[in-house]
Amino acid sequence: MSKKQLYIETLGCAMNTRDSEHIIAELSSKENYELCDDPKMADLIMINTCSVRQKPVDKLFSEIGVFNKLKKKGAKIGVCGCTASHLGDEIFKRAPNVNFVLGARNVSKVSKAVKTEKFIDVDINYDESTYVFGEYRNSLYKAYINISIGCDKSCTYCIVPHTRGEEISIPPELIVAEAKKAVKSGAKEIFLLGQNVNNYGRRFSQKRASKIDFSDLLDMVSEIDGVDRIRFTSPHPLHMDDKFLNTFAKNRKICKSMHMPLQSGSTKILEAMKRGYSKEWFLDRALKLRDMIPEVSISTDIIVGFPGESDKDFDDTMDVLNRVKFEQIFSFKFSPRPLTAASKFENVVDDRVASQRLKILQSRQDEILDEIAKSRQNKIYDVYFEELRAGNFVAGRTDNNALVQVEGSEELLGRTCKVKITNPKRLTLYGQIVQ
Ligand code: SAH
Ligand code: SF4
Ligand code: F3S
Repeated sequence: MSKKQLYIETLGCAMNTRDSEHIIAELSSKENYELCDDPKMADLIMINTCSVRQKPVDKLFSEIGVFNKLKKKGAKIGVCGCTASHLGDEIFKRAPNVNFVLGARNVSKVSKAVKTEKFIDVDINYDESTYVFGEYRNSLYKAYINISIGCDKSCTYCIVPHTRGEEISIPPELIVAEAKKAVKSGAKEIFLLGQNVNNYGRRFSQKRASKIDFSDLLDMVSEIDGVDRIRFTSPHPLHMDDKFLNTFAKNRKICKSMHMPLQSGSTKILEAMKRGYSKEWFLDRALKLRDMIPEVSISTDIIVGFPGESDKDFDDTMDVLNRVKFEQIFSFKFSPRPLTAASKFENVVDDRVASQRLKILQSRQDEILDEIAKSRQNKIYDVYFEELRAGNFVAGRTDNNALVQVEGSEELLGRTCKVKITNPKRLTLYGQIVQ
């Protein structure tokens, strides 16, 4: 029997990318689907959605409109992910042509969803932490592995706890088994995923006798033969205790790039966000990391225009930017989200002021990136190649996560080579292989 064609569009974060891999694995092993890259050919079009800001939610409804016009007769449309979790059956009301709605924490039910007309399950208390999904990976070289589901924090701006539910850690033996499978199929890099990875081990779905934390888990994964590189996202600055920083610094398989989501440099705003740390704590941890590991790179997330953010609060954010000199930032204007406390806060910052602050922040960051790029001229890095680029180029990453591109072809993929940087730019370092 010829296979049915599945087209899937993934919005949002790395967790959604992994969820899409799980969906593809489920549908190909149980329902005779195969992945295709043309929505016009598809028997099933799925949109894996994000609701962290309003923009991706608006994108969902415009995409449904586009797919509805171009899909072949009889093809189904399914909506899954975080927007499915929080809008639920409102999606059917706004887009009656959608066939099923599957919340971010119900991926294992996709087989049932495709066979049931108007299926909907958006239960955020459903526990998928011990479900073993089939094998499918977008990349042969890098394997994403979930280590927890949900999030136990209640940052006042954030919708994620309302779309992915409470935090439950995945048992370490399942994570190790996944990593071993990935290595067997050729991946040398393991990328551990969770909303709050360094809170790992607080709660499992079954009672466990042994206590294990994120540092212990990192050491366990690093002991697997064939794992060369370990990355993870997102750690929380609050849980960056000395044990964690020491493990990060000492374990040679852990890549020396740390994501430290700042959100704001103002202690007053951090309190209103319920982040649990102060400007001083954040600076202490970031500067300690720089001290312990001179080659470390630090990335961050920043929100500007949070309710009540004054010029002085914004100056504090700029101060942290100038002192830490992040190698990468993801910066956003505050977007009020349904179900969150901050959406009801007063002292809303005028949109023009927020836009202006974003511009100031980003242009200062561009200057910092230019300085960092310049300092990398003629440096030699170990680069693990994982992606083909148009025009006979291959791209990969240094241990500290800089993107490097060289001339070359397939035979470089999955290999680590020494590269001399000949033309460093803000986002990509261009270089030549020296060994
Ligand atoms: N668990 C991760 C964050 C996931 S959401 C962490 O704590 O780092 C990714 C980023 O989106 C957040 O770090 C934050 O900077 C941004 N974000 C979340 N909610 C937002 C909102 N309401 N408005 C603007 N940006 C938001
Ligand atoms: Fe959202 Fe905060 Fe949880 Fe991150 S830690 S997902 S920002 S609630
Ligand atoms: Fe990720 Fe967006 Fe959900 S950032 S957790 S897909 S709201």
